[in-house]
Amino acid sequence: MAIEKTFLMVKPDGVERQVVGDIVDRFERRGFELRGAKLMVASRELAEAHYAEHAERPFFGELVDFITSGPVFGMVWEGENVIQLARIMMGATKPEDSNPGTIRGDYAVTLSHNVIHGSDSLASAEREIGLWFPEGLAE
Ligand code: PPS
Repeated sequence: MAIEKTFLMVKPDGVERQVVGDIVDRFERRGFELRGAKLMVASRELAEAHYAEHAERPFFGELVDFITSGPVFGMVWEGENVIQLARIMMGATKPEDSNPGTIRGDYAVTLSHNVIHGSDSLASAEREIGLWFPEGLAE
């Protein structure tokens, strides 16, 4: 299995609820390496680019409003199979499908305010890391 990098983002609801520390702790305990992290308020331009694949969906405007409504905590994590394993640790997007013990299963009850985003493929991870960390990662 290849060593991969993924982009994870604690959404504004997660930052406001002060669960950043718990989320970082979960990935450290699992054995992944933190390669980049920043607290920032995303511009509309960045949020629209990040969610471009959903531009035609009816909730797109709401999603961009929400993601730009307060600080997010963007991270790059590295490790074996981290893209898929992070998605499992996050839990399903829909609250009724996210199991207790997962991040969303422990913290989220709505589809839109679901605490965390994670890249869903190698191509998405590379694209999202480039968007959120254009300055590159620390060596
Ligand atoms: S997935 O995982 O891409 O299949 O999920 P999907 O249902 O397509 O949702 C994509 C992202 O859009 C968010 N979402 C919403 N935001 C606001 N309002 C509504 N109704 C809504 N429905 C879905 C969902 O949380 C996903 O965000 P990310 O950051 O990708 O997890």
